Amino acid sequence: MTTAKGILLAGGSGTRLHPMTLAASKQLLPVYDKPMVYYPLSTLMLAGIRDILVISTPEDLPQFRRLLGSGERLGVRFAYAEQPRPEGIAQAFRIGAEWLTSEPVALALGDNLIHADQLSSLLRAAAGRAEGATVFAYQVRDPERYGVVSFDPAGRAAQIVEKPAAPLSNWAVTGLYFYDHRVAERVARLSPSARGELEITDLNRLYLEDGTLHVERLARGCAWLDAGTPDSLLQAATFVQTIQARQGLLVGCPEEVAFRMGYIDAAHLRAEARRLGKTELGRVLGELADGAIV
Ligand code: G1P
Repeated sequence: MTTAKGILLAGGSGTRLHPMTLAASKQLLPVYDKPMVYYPLSTLMLAGIRDILVISTPEDLPQFRRLLGSGERLGVRFAYAEQPRPEGIAQAFRIGAEWLTSEPVALALGDNLIHADQLSSLLRAAAGRAEGATVFAYQVRDPERYGVVSFDPAGRAAQIVEKPAAPLSNWAVTGLYFYDHRVAERVARLSPSARGELEITDLNRLYLEDGTLHVERLARGCAWLDAGTPDSLLQAATFVQTIQARQGLLVGCPEEVAFRMGYIDAAHLRAEARRLGKTELGRVLGELADGAIV
């Protein structure tokens, strides 16, 4: 079990999803049958992380508390902190400075969904790395929308650039990051970019420059989706619906992950399944608790 802590960043104003996000938090919108934030939460839990700081806007944070509570239901501990203004992803480490102390930390963006075979072992390896940072790269058709990493002929990460007009590769950096204990000191060295934000890409570049940035390339069989626009939100929902309907297994379900990781037992899972009433999600969790699916 890792000592790493996790931050779930669910701030921002979700302007690309207006008017849906005028009166609701983007990360609480549904992605098929679950709130969006369940997906990155499941990812952190799959990494073996049980101490999680949820960061959101002062207006939206009470809704996250209402949804997630203390974490006891999932065998984890949630803490909460406000991000008063959206001043960049790396600001999460300034907001969480006191809570973090000196453990390694993972940061997951509240609108990112990763679904892959053997993901847990990949994540646990990243969480267990004592030194450096780990990011995950994924091939996309539209890299200019993301942080982009390029590689030298030997396959080592060479450059990392935020939303480049002329991308040097099609490898986007996903919204899941693992950092060692040096992260606070490094974030302190960052200054706001031209768009007035503390860029996560600038933090990653500091690690790249001293040779301690590990870039894991996710294979084409993995799915990495973000849900920040109407199209990507619909695509994410369709993806989850397709996989779940076909396999009868769940994507991004924290109750399932809690059970599989041994954070909660079968009786506890059964109680959670009942809480979900007559939903398909509740039915599948009940089967899992009964050992009817493995
Ligand atoms: C952010 C990061 C970017 C990363 C992306 C992943 O972009 O700045 O480097 O590739 O998340 O979702 P944003 O969603 O803020 O545009």
